[in-house]
Order: sequence, then structure tokens, then C-alpha cells
Amino acid sequence: MRRIGLLTSGGDAPGMNAAIRAVVRQALGRGLEVVGIRRGYSGLLAGEVQPLTRAGVANIIQRGGTILGTSRSQEFMRPEGRARAAALLRGAGIEGVVTIGGDGTLHGATLLAEEQSVPVAGVPGTIDNDVYGTEFTIGFDTAVNTALQAIDRIRDTAASHERLFLVEVMGRTCGDIALGVAVAGGAEEVLLPESPPDLLNLAADLRHSWERGKRSSIIVVSESGEQGRSIRLAEEVGRLTGLEPRVCILGHIQRGGTPTARDRILASRLGAAAVDILLDGGGSMAGESSGAIARVLLRDTWEKRRHIPADLLALVRELA
Ligand code: F6P
Repeated sequence: MRRIGLLTSGGDAPGMNAAIRAVVRQALGRGLEVVGIRRGYSGLLAGEVQPLTRAGVANIIQRGGTILGTSRSQEFMRPEGRARAAALLRGAGIEGVVTIGGDGTLHGATLLAEEQSVPVAGVPGTIDNDVYGTEFTIGFDTAVNTALQAIDRIRDTAASHERLFLVEVMGRTCGDIALGVAVAGGAEEVLLPESPPDLLNLAADLRHSWERGKRSSIIVVSESGEQGRSIRLAEEVGRLTGLEPRVCILGHIQRGGTPTARDRILASRLGAAAVDILLDGGGSMAGESSGAIARVLLRDTWEKRRHIPADLLALVRELA
């Protein structure tokens, strides 16, 4: 293998740039040429490629977003799209690809590898932490800390006005952001995508705690693929409790900003490990398990599901 491609795809995540830097420098150190593919699979299909150099990835380790740009490509999700992508890769002399992204990106990477025999190595980059085979995805830690700063501020105004707040955080199918923020932010309850909300019970618990003298509450709501669902839930909770909840939707601010040290270290480790996976023929994602690098079959990363840590969920309620 002499030349490899590198792309970021799906929702951007803080730490993607640190991963790009690690892939490029590890690959150059191993004697490979690296080609950056812009705008994920869409850019690959449009032939948007550029050489990446050691100097070209200087001063990006601290930057949020992705210097390569990203997208969610519909065409690549079809077999004809992937066949065209493989032909374009061959035409450009690219013999293997590192893809950085979440479950959708890894799904696409799996099919490209299986159908077109392209060597592919994955790096888990998404704030959602919804990738099987790694304890943490790149961007998750930063997103939790960003949301936590907001919760701390909301707590001030909730306490001053004696209010109930519903704070909506990101997370399409995985409630890890919500759970982390709820525990660290001392929330009273958390609503996750993994289970339907039991609003009758929630309202009964809230009424009980306010009757006992509680004067402000924060409920963390995972967006669960329906951005803004906390507005609907707040109306229902207000009706059931007689309280007048306020809603704060944190949205995309959770995806931006300077990556934490933890995300930069994870990104550096996994980016470098992905190059070695590629040199061994590809077919896996670099993950982190019990503090060590793990190689996870690409198909397993999105076909198998992570489980919500039940002890953390119980803690939110016990410590409320
Ligand atoms: O996958 C990351 C994520 O931020 C999810 O938490 C969220 O559901 C989705 O992306 C939002 O996507 P978009 O940026 O297309 O609105």
C-alpha cells in the first residue's frame, strides 16, 4: 500500500481534527502518501481530493469541526454509489481509506469494504457515543462538558425563579450524552431514547418532591431523533403537575468548540491505530476498551448495540 485516502463523514465532532492529524502523521511516518477527501462520501463521489502533508495538519489539534468538511450522502448508501466510489478511488491510485465518523459512516465503510474489496479502517467520531466496540467515541466528552456548562447556568436561573426546566441534549438513538449530563449536572430525571417517557410517573415524582419542599428541578431530555421534542413533553408535564416548565434546547452548540484533552488523546490514539489497521488489510475500526486499543469488525460497530449503563440511570434517581 502506497497511497491512502482519509475522510470525515456524518455529524462533525470535536476531536475530528486531532484524529486527522494523527492519521496523516502516522501514515507519513509509515512511508504512505495521504490524500484528504473533502465533504465525506459526497466529496469522494465528486472527486474532491487533495494531498495532505505534515505541515498541512499543523495547528489543528485544538480546533473543533473538521478541516476536511463533512456530509451525509444518500448516493453512497446505494450499491451503485459505492461501486462508483470504488472506481474513483482506484482511478486516483488510492489503495485504502480511513473513515472518521459515527454509525452511518461506519455502515457505509463496511459496505464499501465488503462489496468492493476496498481496504477500510474506521475511527469512531461522533458526539453520540453510539458506536459498538469502543467505550468512548471522539467528541462525546467535549459534548458532555459543553452541555454541562449550560446546565450549570440554567441551574442558577432555575433556583432563582423556583422553576422546573427541561433541557434537551443531542443523541439520536443513544442516551449517553443525556445520562452523563444528568449525573454530572445533578438532574432530577433523565429521558432517554432507549425507553419511552413515562410522564405520569415523572409527574407524580415531581409533585411529591415539590410537596416535600423542592423549589427547582432540572430534567434532561435526550432529543431522540426528534429535535424539539422537549417542547411537547414540557406542555404535558405542565398539565400533569400544575408547574410552568421552561424549555432549553442546546442543539448544535454541543457539536462545536475546542475538544477536551480527553478527546484529543483518544483521537490521537485511534487515528494512529487506524493506519496500522489499514496496513494489516483493513476491515476493522480502532476503538478503546478498558484503556487499551481494540480492533472491532466494521460490521459489528453498527450492527451490535451498546447498552445504557443501568447503574448510572439508577444513580440519577437515587441522588436526585
Ligand atoms: O449524530 C450526531 C447528531 O448530532 C445527533 O445527536 C443528532 O440527532 C443529529 O446528529 C443531528 O443532525 P443534523 O446536524 O443533521 O441536524
